[in-house]
Order: sequence, then C-alpha cells, then structure tokens
Amino acid sequence: MKFNIIYLSKVNSTNSYAIQQIENNALSHGDVIFTLNQESGKGQGDNIWESESGSNLHVSIILSPKMIDASEQFVLTQLISLAIVNLINSYLSNITVNQQLKIKWPNDIYVGDKKIAGILFQNFIKGNKIEYSIVGIGINVNQKEFFSSAPNPISIIHFINKATDVNQLLDELLLNVGAYYEKYTFENKFSELKLEYLKNLYKYNNWTTYSDSEGVFKGKITGIDEYGRLIVMQESGVEKLYMYKEIKFNP
Ligand code: BTN
Repeated sequence: MKFNIIYLSKVNSTNSYAIQQIENNALSHGDVIFTLNQESGKGQGDNIWESESGSNLHVSIILSPKMIDASEQFVLTQLISLAIVNLINSYLSNITVNQQLKIKWPNDIYVGDKKIAGILFQNFIKGNKIEYSIVGIGINVNQKEFFSSAPNPISIIHFINKATDVNQLLDELLLNVGAYYEKYTFENKFSELKLEYLKNLYKYNNWTTYSDSEGVFKGKITGIDEYGRLIVMQESGVEKLYMYKEIKFNP
C-alpha cells in the first residue's frame, strides 16, 4: 500500500486536522498527517495525549477500508495494534521476558505495566461501510519525563538509552501498517488475525482482578467476540461480555 506523508511543522491534533480536511474532501486513502509538534493531542474519551515538542511520534493515517463492514471495525483495531507491537518490538530487542510488549484491550500498547503507545480511531461511517477511518497513533519515543495525569507512561528511550530518529520510525511504522493491512483485510483472514491479536493480548488467559458495574472480581480474559467485545470468565465459570469502559483492569 502507498502512503503520502503530509508534514506539518506543528498542529493542535493530527486527528482533528485530518477530520477537518476530510470534511473538505481534501484527504483520501493512504494520506498521512505527521508532526513532531502536537500541541493539544487527544486521547480516548476526554483524555489528553501529553507529548513534549520534538520528542515523539504523532501521526494520523487515513484509511478507506471499503471491504470492511462497519460492524467489523474491530478488524482495524487488531491489525493496527499488531503493526505497532511489531514495530516497537524491533526496537526493544533487549527487553526481559516479563516486560514483553502487549496490547491492553482494546488498543493500548504496553511494555510490562506501562503504556508506550496509544491509538485513537475516529471513523466516518456511511450505510454499513467505513468510509474513512482516521487512525491516530501516538508513540512515546524520546520523552524522558511526563507531567500530566497519564498514570503510567514510558518511552522507547527508557529501554535503549539513545535517541531514536522519529522520521525513520514513521517510515517503519508505515511499512508495518501497510503489511498488516494488506495481509489481513480479507474476510477469510479475520480468524487468523484474531489469533495473532489474542497471542499478544495483555493478561490473556491470566487470572487477575477487574472491576465492573457490580464491583471487584477475579476473572480471566478468554477471548473477544466478532464486535471486539472482551470476554471475561469469572471464578464461577460464567463468561461476561464487555464494551470499552465497562470493565477496568485493577492494578
Ligand atoms: C489514547 O491512548 O488515549 C489514544 C492516544 C492517541 C494519541 C494520538 S497522537 C496522534 C493522534 N492525534 C491526536 O490528537 N491523538 C492521536
């Protein structure tokens, strides 16, 4: 897949800029908005995305995945998360086994118990198709200290002790995204994609403590359903399904 990178010297949020441009019909599949200076990055929900000027990767990739139904949006979540895991793994080749890179459901990228990257999907749906997906990716690269209320951020530099060239990281990210997109956007590949996602899922098949609307409980993730809902088994053996924000991983 071909990408066309649009470099901005600074912007409030690459996602907000991309939304504006899509509304003006000025972007299409494969366009990429990139900046080294994102002044008020957006996280999921009402969160902000903290990033020191010049230190990190902020990008919004425009995809127009006509072959994926709106109800199958989670396919995108899975393949983008895996592309990022694969990329960062190639940088952190010397980390210890208990600090492996994992995807914290639905799409936070973790090393051990710390977050190294986040994704914000903003989709334009038309009928039952995804007309455009704005895939906003933030990777903590060279920032050593964080000041916002983000609970547990960590950067690539904490593991490799030398600065990473963010432009090169972007090129490698796009290679990974292109490869995963081409490999997995066919319906007959969705179950293979899901297996790879589960293999890389944080706390998959591990008993741990969660909380939901009914309180704190011990459970283990046993899978995800076709809509990307998390399946968690309780000690009684009963399985429950959760949408985003309906369940919390307790520390
Ligand atoms: C999250 O984990 O809460 C999602 C973070 C997403 C941050 C990226 S940085 C590039 C793009 N532009 C934004 O304003 N946010 C996303």
